[in-house]
Amino acid sequence: MTGQRAGENPLLPAAVTVVVPTLMERENVAPLVEGLERALAGWSWEVVFVDDDSADGTADAVRSLARRDPRVRVLQRIGSRGLAGAVIDGALSSASPVVAVMDADLQHDESALPRMLRRLEEEGLDLVVASRYAEGGSTAGWDGRRRVLSRLAIALARSVLRVPLEDPLSGFFVIRREALDRVVRRLSREGFKVLLDIVASSPGPLAVAEVPCRFGVRERGTSKLDSLVAWQLGVLVLDKLVGRWLPVRFVLFCLVGSAGVLVHLAALGLFHRARLPFRTAQEGAVLVAMTSNFVLNNLLTYRDRRRSGLAFVRGLLSFCLLCSVGAVANVGVACLLYDARSTWWAAGVAGAAVGAVWNYVATSLFTWREARR
Ligand code: GDD
Ligand code: MN
Repeated sequence: MTGQRAGENPLLPAAVTVVVPTLMERENVAPLVEGLERALAGWSWEVVFVDDDSADGTADAVRSLARRDPRVRVLQRIGSRGLAGAVIDGALSSASPVVAVMDADLQHDESALPRMLRRLEEEGLDLVVASRYAEGGSTAGWDGRRRVLSRLAIALARSVLRVPLEDPLSGFFVIRREALDRVVRRLSREGFKVLLDIVASSPGPLAVAEVPCRFGVRERGTSKLDSLVAWQLGVLVLDKLVGRWLPVRFVLFCLVGSAGVLVHLAALGLFHRARLPFRTAQEGAVLVAMTSNFVLNNLLTYRDRRRSGLAFVRGLLSFCLLCSVGAVANVGVACLLYDARSTWWAAGVAGAAVGAVWNYVATSLFTWREARR
């Protein structure tokens, strides 16, 4: 049994560490600890709040509780951001054989924890998930748009990644440390989808169960789920699919590039019909296609490093400049091969491939260089 109940040697690690990622949750910390105290009475537990240096002083709020209660800890991260990374760091900061993960905003009903822990123990499971979609669970208080989005994302995750969960996006679960240890080095630190990542990346199948749970409405603070989070989910799914062979960004970059060919032809057709001389029409179409490629890459491929304002203009210029070099390389390589008696289409494909790789590498280094942290 996790049966190391309260009252055993207090110097030993707790049987359960509850990991709670926080960003601007100052007012929710104390009520959550009270809730845990009630729900886990009789268990040996601790809670670690992993706070990304929230400006509202969440970390200090936790510290003032920690001074009165040794079961409460804070891990304040400076210069790091991200829910998934916070969950991982929190879990790694403890020695308990079982880790529970939940949100700080009181949307997750902590009274479900004993039920989840008992199932983990009694059935020898690796993972127990509180599910909104298992029978008896619910998402009361969610608006229609959010409900549909959530359903869509789940359908995608289940079919593409073959994850055997009704609710792979739940942020509320308990996991055995051994199971986590086996997968922890493969996990992405970006995004919200740490549970999905754990299940999809696990080297062997996990013994999993879901318990129904009502997810409440957030009363204080605001949700941090935005379009960037949705984008990261998409990238995670793609990465699990093709990441073994190609970097996801490169795949996105090539998809955008292919769309660019269509844009080019459409623009060329338009200019041609407007009776521009062919050379001018072609030059114009190249500019239009480059601009649309830049905009699309900025929105999709590099959503997390999106350039706006003046940086957008600078980015567009550097993108066009670098891709012109890519075009020259493309033509050069193709001609070289063609002269060496390759078939026309093989020479063309090789040229395009060289151009694409150059464009990708060069723009990732300059146009969308990662900000130094
Ligand atoms: N440390 C840290 N860093 N914590 C974060 C960060 C971050 O960058 N972003 C969010 N959090 C914390 C919040 O403070 C909260 O405790 C928890 O993570 C969930 O964030 P919310 O902003 O409340 O997310 P949500 O309610 O929209 O999403 C929840 O439901 C989703 C299912 O629809 C989460 O549980 C998701 O994991 C879940 O997929
Ligand atoms: Mn929430």
